Amino acid sequence: MFRHPRPGQLIIVVMTLGLMPTLAASHYAVPQSPPGPQSSAGRSIPDDPKADAFVDALLVKMTLAEKLGQMSQMALNSPSDSVPPEEHARRSDVGSFLFTTDAAQISRLQHMAVEHSRLGIPLLFGFDVIHGFRTIYPVPLALAASWDPAVAERAQTMAAREASAVGIQWAFAPMLDIARDPRWGRIMEGAGEDPFLGARMAEAQVRGFQGDRIGEPGHILACIKHFAGYGAAMGGRDYEESNISDEQLENVYLPPFHAAVNAGAGSLMSAYMDLNGVPATGNRWLLHDVLRERWHFSGFVVSDWESVKSLTTHGFAAGPEDAAARATNAGVDMEMTSATYRDHLAAAVEQGKVQQATVDGAVRDILLAKYRLGLFQHPYADVANAQSQLVTAEQRAAARSIAARTAVLLRNERHLLPLGKSVRSIAVIGPLADSKPDTMGSWSLAGHYDDTVTVLEGLRRRFPSGVTLNVAKGVEIDRGAPTIFDAQFQSPKPTLTTEAARDAEFHHAVDLVEKSDLAILVLGEQQSMSGERASRSSLSLPGRQQELLEAAVATGKPVVLVLINGRPLDITWASEHVSAILEAWYPGTEGGNAIADLLFGDAAPGGHLPLAWPRSVGQIPINYARNLTQIPDDPDRRYWDDSSMPLYPFGYGLSYTNFQLGKLSQSAPSVRTGSSVSVSVKLTNTGAVTGDEVLQLYTHQRAGSASRPIRELKGFSRVTLRPGESRTITIQLSTDDLSFWSPQTHQRAVEPGTFDLWLGTDATAHDHSTLMVTP
Ligand code: NOJ
Repeated sequence: MFRHPRPGQLIIVVMTLGLMPTLAASHYAVPQSPPGPQSSAGRSIPDDPKADAFVDALLVKMTLAEKLGQMSQMALNSPSDSVPPEEHARRSDVGSFLFTTDAAQISRLQHMAVEHSRLGIPLLFGFDVIHGFRTIYPVPLALAASWDPAVAERAQTMAAREASAVGIQWAFAPMLDIARDPRWGRIMEGAGEDPFLGARMAEAQVRGFQGDRIGEPGHILACIKHFAGYGAAMGGRDYEESNISDEQLENVYLPPFHAAVNAGAGSLMSAYMDLNGVPATGNRWLLHDVLRERWHFSGFVVSDWESVKSLTTHGFAAGPEDAAARATNAGVDMEMTSATYRDHLAAAVEQGKVQQATVDGAVRDILLAKYRLGLFQHPYADVANAQSQLVTAEQRAAARSIAARTAVLLRNERHLLPLGKSVRSIAVIGPLADSKPDTMGSWSLAGHYDDTVTVLEGLRRRFPSGVTLNVAKGVEIDRGAPTIFDAQFQSPKPTLTTEAARDAEFHHAVDLVEKSDLAILVLGEQQSMSGERASRSSLSLPGRQQELLEAAVATGKPVVLVLINGRPLDITWASEHVSAILEAWYPGTEGGNAIADLLFGDAAPGGHLPLAWPRSVGQIPINYARNLTQIPDDPDRRYWDDSSMPLYPFGYGLSYTNFQLGKLSQSAPSVRTGSSVSVSVKLTNTGAVTGDEVLQLYTHQRAGSASRPIRELKGFSRVTLRPGESRTITIQLSTDDLSFWSPQTHQRAVEPGTFDLWLGTDATAHDHSTLMVTP
């Protein structure tokens, strides 16, 4: 069976001109093995001759209009569409809908498509199941902070279970964009700055969404996004172009996608922006040469929202027909929302700008996904039971323990945390202490405020009597600019309309701190301050939160800062003056209970940072994996006006206990290319309570065809130890992990020579040894 003979001659000529820098890379002889330990290799979508035969038989019956329908996805309830969705389902001029969570509506439309359209092809219902469906889990950046792929897998398994109960079969997640600029609002949707950690989180989330195979009951199709380079948006400004060198693209931005493809991801979303001058949605090098030819991806590709239409806005396509032709020829199988395919692709086919075989290849990919999902056999969800599957006790318990596992303890002077039993009164202060939408975080569109437990509620449940909670917002915060989600999802609006009222509230809060034993300040960002179209030029605590924090500390009372946010914020002052800082991220439905568990020691914080935390916005980018250059022993003084080291390094996180690390040992001083070595260390919990530590293995290639980063993460393990317990932790390092794509040879290879190894608990680990890699 043929696959993807995409472009017509004319298009090749035009695109070759436009793609010069990136096309060059496609000529390189790149071996197929991906970077890092691809433990899940072999889980990629298996061939199924029965599915192929079924889809081929269906294809020959389809008209061009029906094919274009399969290639078109529409947003339900779109005001610009005068045709009711039921009619689209009957006509089969739409193959997929997004944005309904209503089980009855999904069922009605599916019945219409299956029972009343000419060929009875089922619809595919997609939704942004980013970090939960009705039960909201911590945001993906938080999941990465767990440094535990099982946590990410479990969160997405539970999310898939709820979404599938109402009839949603497709999640627009996971987002695999490496992000090194926290000004970019969508940094909270990904796994942070590191390709190795990102790849492990990518595989885990694909497994969580899809289960062991596409079509497993209770699971849904994953859609890895946004392919590729969206996280490098210029200046951190959402949607802006990304300019990424081939070396960085190959070694940093693509590996999580490759890992997810190897893990069997069934669909992929093309990105909005220009990548090195070519829009990702019209970028055949990305969508065909890399994705299909090099990685053998056999799922289907959907555009991002209107990103086919946008090819014209970018100044790339000459108009809608050209945009439809270019996106199809590049490899976009399904168009999200803008109807460019439905309205203009037929003309492009008639004029020979798109081959019929290219359209058939796209439709085949989509029908195969529907077949693999089992939709031709079982198109309907069990509507009668849908509601009983949502926010169950099991979902809540999972959300609570996962939120606890994602929190990162950044500071804990004199062991202030966990809080002792002697506390009689606590001031609970801050605009986020009792805000349900902000506890859920951005992209929690199917979540309900009423289900959500805020920090204040979590503390109240924990102390029904005996401890006095003195509560005040202190300050109000507001984004002050509309967001695209305002209709669906709102943070509380400011209610204090005069300066005097605002001052009175501020002083009231500080008075409460004065008269309490200690204060918990819940500060950070409202949900609308991060996410899509939520980039910032500053990382400061919005509004007067910094002033409030300083006033609380000035009372002399112990202060615990709980951060609710989706990006690192400027807490340099707090890191020196506040007794304890707990990074809770946007923790989700059970966030308040989980934070109470952590503050009082029923759960132990053990997360570590999935990104280097900058001291100020001027340090961005400050990711740890940079190259050694001139005067390398002076890394802290690259700026004359500030440190050039981050406030907290990548991989950093504290615990309520203390750990002692033994000396690093390795199974052999040298290793032959193609085999592996194990690196071990003895870890002892020397403190008084059970706690978690995250061991991290970093490497550096001393010399080769290109300079390599100072350090690169190549393995990690999160362990729980009881007081006094010791365990030897072993991390396998395969020489495949040491391969990289060289900008000199244009190949991925392992280059024999000497490598430094470090094992420790963050990216500054100092226990060192060397490994000789021989051919
Ligand atoms: C646009 C976003 O970029 C994408 O991530 C999302 O899945 C779609 N809209 C659908 O909501």
